[in-house]
Amino acid sequence: MSELTSLKIRFSEMGDRLAAPVITRLMAAALDSPELLSLAAGFTDTTTLPGGLVGEVVGKLVGRPGPPEYLQYGTNQGRPLLRNLLVRRLSEQDRQEEGVYQSNQLFIANGSQQALSLATQVLCDPGDIVLVERPTYFVYLDVLRGLGVEARCLPWDKDHRLDGEALEDYLERMERAGELERVKAVYLQAYYANPTARSLEPREKAGLAEALLAKGLRIPVIEDAAYRELHFENPPAASSVLAMPEFADFPCLYLGTLTKPFATGLKVGFGYCSHQGWLDRILFLKGQQDFGTSNFCQAILEEVLAGGQYDSYLPELRRHYHSKMQVLDQALREEGLSELGWEWEVPEGGLYLWLQGPQGFNTRIDSAFCHQCLMNGVLYVPGDLCFGNEVENRYVRLSFGVLSGNDLREAGRRFVETVRQLTPA
Ligand SMILES: Cc1ncc(COP(=O)(O)O)c(C=O)c1O
Repeated sequence: MSELTSLKIRFSEMGDRLAAPVITRLMAAALDSPELLSLAAGFTDTTTLPGGLVGEVVGKLVGRPGPPEYLQYGTNQGRPLLRNLLVRRLSEQDRQEEGVYQSNQLFIANGSQQALSLATQVLCDPGDIVLVERPTYFVYLDVLRGLGVEARCLPWDKDHRLDGEALEDYLERMERAGELERVKAVYLQAYYANPTARSLEPREKAGLAEALLAKGLRIPVIEDAAYRELHFENPPAASSVLAMPEFADFPCLYLGTLTKPFATGLKVGFGYCSHQGWLDRILFLKGQQDFGTSNFCQAILEEVLAGGQYDSYLPELRRHYHSKMQVLDQALREEGLSELGWEWEVPEGGLYLWLQGPQGFNTRIDSAFCHQCLMNGVLYVPGDLCFGNEVENRYVRLSFGVLSGNDLREAGRRFVETVRQLTPA
């Protein structure tokens, strides 16, 4: 045993690049101390997951005459009926006529995370660059790091909007530095993003398309819409990049998921790709990895989408997350976080509050603040993890997904108490 432990395996370059994501340290801390209240995990609320509904659907599947085809392997691209249903849903959301979006352009994945990862792997080599928002989804930053790819944040203005004018200069500078060749893709979250819960306005996306085209950069665009269905009141008005004329000349990949709005544990997501060559390669790689997402999980989702239960379940779920967001937001306000110089926007969807601490406040995982939060029994995601470059240290992501009621209020109270302790008088 000890001989084996000391044996040095020669890993691939990628294997060597991999490191335990910081977030797993936070998760481990939460598991080690059950009294900790976690505002860190981006999980859904286990108490509202549709157990009864899934039980009924499974009963229905099992009761069907004929062999249980759903227990057989499925196809690499995914169940045809499910793909049709998702294409119809996406067409409605984007207000596109039937037939504009085609189900053969859509593939089912093991969560949208798999689709994102596959799509990036087939595009990027070590040393390449992917343009991302500022801040962005930290798990994607880990994916890029693992591939040896550099994440570069797009320029944002003081209102945290994509800065169209600065973008031209930014690309100009990259051109002068001979870096444009290395830019392989741009990654966006247009709906209630993780971590900011902000949505991109169509003019921001259009400005980006214009600036990229002006530099001849017709690069793949990945639009991750993981939270699009999790709006609180009104559905988002903006259509996806797939339907925007400004992106007609770009290869676009739209990522959606059925995990957050329905059942995270079924782990079914999808990608819609407007470029055949890119899609083919994604599917070749998926074929090597798993040659198809769980057919059984797909069959369950197919049933709930076709039978309308998915749509009847969503409004309640939206109300639930809306009210949880209000509980956390109110707890932070009542405890006096704003008076301590912290700012945040009230989101209209998603699972997160994105807080900006005062200038100079340090929220990193190795900071006194993070340490004190652990001592006081509350966990958060340090915002610095969400920056590709030019990292900022005064932000925090809080999730209201998991906790509810008194626990959520108490977590908010502990958070503000810790801020108070660490704020100079
Ligand atoms: C922005 C974003 N994209 C993608 C995912 C992956 O979700 P899933 O693989 O469950 O579809 C997540 C999960 O937290 C996310 O926050």
